[in-house]
Amino acid sequence: MNIRILPPHLRQQIAAGEVIERPASVVKELIENALDAGAQQIVVEIEHGGRQLIRVSDDGAGIASDEVSLAFERFATSKIYDSRDIEAVRTFGFRGEALPSIAAVSRVQVVTRPRRAALGTCAQIEAGQLLAVSEAGARLGTTIEVRDLFYNIPVRRKFLRSVRVELSHIIGVFTTFAVAFPEQAWTLICDGKALFELSATSYRDRLLALYGQEVTARLDMLDCEGLSGRLWGSVCRDPMVAHRSYRFFVNRRPVRHARLYRAVHAALGGTGMLLLFLEIAPELVDVNVHPAKREVRFRDEEGVYDLVFGALSRHFAGEKRYAGGVAEGQAPYGTAASAKAAQTFHAIGQVENTFVLAAGQGLLYLIDQHAAHERVLYDRLMEAIARGAPPRRQLIAPQVLMLAARELEVLERHRSDMEACGLSFDQFGPGAVAVRTIPDCLPARQAESFCRRLIQRLRDDMIERRGETIPQMIACLAAIKAGTPLPLAEQQQLLQGWSQSERAHACAHNRPVYFQLSLDEVRRKIGRTAGSCGEA
Ligand SMILES: Nc1ncnc2c1ncn2[C@@H]1O[C@H](COP(=O)(O)OP(=O)(O)OP(=O)(O)O)[C@@H](O)[C@H]1O
Ligand SMILES: [Mg+2]
Repeated sequence: MNIRILPPHLRQQIAAGEVIERPASVVKELIENALDAGAQQIVVEIEHGGRQLIRVSDDGAGIASDEVSLAFERFATSKIYDSRDIEAVRTFGFRGEALPSIAAVSRVQVVTRPRRAALGTCAQIEAGQLLAVSEAGARLGTTIEVRDLFYNIPVRRKFLRSVRVELSHIIGVFTTFAVAFPEQAWTLICDGKALFELSATSYRDRLLALYGQEVTARLDMLDCEGLSGRLWGSVCRDPMVAHRSYRFFVNRRPVRHARLYRAVHAALGGTGMLLLFLEIAPELVDVNVHPAKREVRFRDEEGVYDLVFGALSRHFAGEKRYAGGVAEGQAPYGTAASAKAAQTFHAIGQVENTFVLAAGQGLLYLIDQHAAHERVLYDRLMEAIARGAPPRRQLIAPQVLMLAARELEVLERHRSDMEACGLSFDQFGPGAVAVRTIPDCLPARQAESFCRRLIQRLRDDMIERRGETIPQMIACLAAIKAGTPLPLAEQQQLLQGWSQSERAHACAHNRPVYFQLSLDEVRRKIGRTAGSCGEA
């Protein structure tokens, strides 16, 4: 057989096949374009599982009339200019392939108007051919209508699954973006019925709107920082909540990553639900791996793996040992022995952003959030010191501190104690030190204020005058401060960690952590006995 160059329409169809696999791929590409255009409201309309119609409307930047036909050319993009831009892509799109791919395998109509234009543009493209372009009255933003997907590729059309299956893929794409972008308003209309109408809100309220109260209440918040970046999200490994529903986002781009998936699978025991958001410098991640941009590669695969696996393991290590034990008994303050009593208690809320109010087994507790967190951090630190493995956080850029002679002297005097806790520093010219690592209970952004406050305590002779140790100082400085608002999930998480402590009743400085009140006593005091008024 002779070798031939394929005709353009066939080349286009083959290329389109890599980007557009099914109706949900069209929805994904159009949503991404809307987000890249700065849309605040995105409406997705579907007919017949997307086979008949997919329409995505946004209120974003719009396309200038003289660029509308160009937008449907291959490799036409407004998002990158040169090869350096590919190394640090901040937009969803950059390949200039989505619109021409969609148009190669369907009948497309675009109506668009940028803010500056009085009139909009309407264009029709069919099987990659521009049929018509005209001026048109149009709302601000862009509406792209895709009809009869794969009408010109019967074999692809045959491979489409039932309307129900295709719709479930579309709903998957829609909800994935909607959860990652709570600050946008989203609507999904299927065959004339609104399936989702989500107004712009917070992440937590978006979870509530998408997954309901029951699931949201069982999702724990994750939030930690590592060398590779910040990791946050929601997790739960209860099989009753979900079965292996794991979603990963890198800089809010939904992605697949086999290694991360395995890390998560192992940490969650192959079940449960996870929404994991990794925030990382765009230079450290390569999104140009697959035409559909579903997969990513990290420059430091190991670092990202450690960050994810470490965060989940720490989270679940706490949960495994959690027996919910806090003090019981008559004394207002619990004792070490009574702290082991296995009771389950639940955070109800904060009082003055300082005390966590919790209930369990007929008792109410007011727990000093700072003291409880200090206890958790202190125990962890002491355990690590005993193992000779202080958990340290390497600072990407060393924190340089200019110090007075007395400060340099106390710092030098306590150097080995500080190193045992994960804090290391070098002399950095006259009167300056460069802090290289800090204990990992502190986020990197607090390195400077932490070091300054620690040095101040050392300079004030807190060790000599008050008998305070360096681990106590570190736990105290790193613990949540009184007056800090905490979401309920974080209050519960704090209680979980704290209740495992052998010395839950006392903070690192041995002051009481909580006050408890028996509900029986409350009933007695206010005369609520069986049969009193108001009983159900
Ligand atoms: N909803 C929209 N609002 C404003 N401009 C848009 C919209 N959709 C597409 N465009 C413009 O059309 C261009 C081509 O879009 P297309 O999706 O084909 O490529 P891309 O987004 O640049 O890259 P990719 O192929 O990776 O998605 C975009 O670069 C953008 O300038
Ligand atoms: Mg695009």
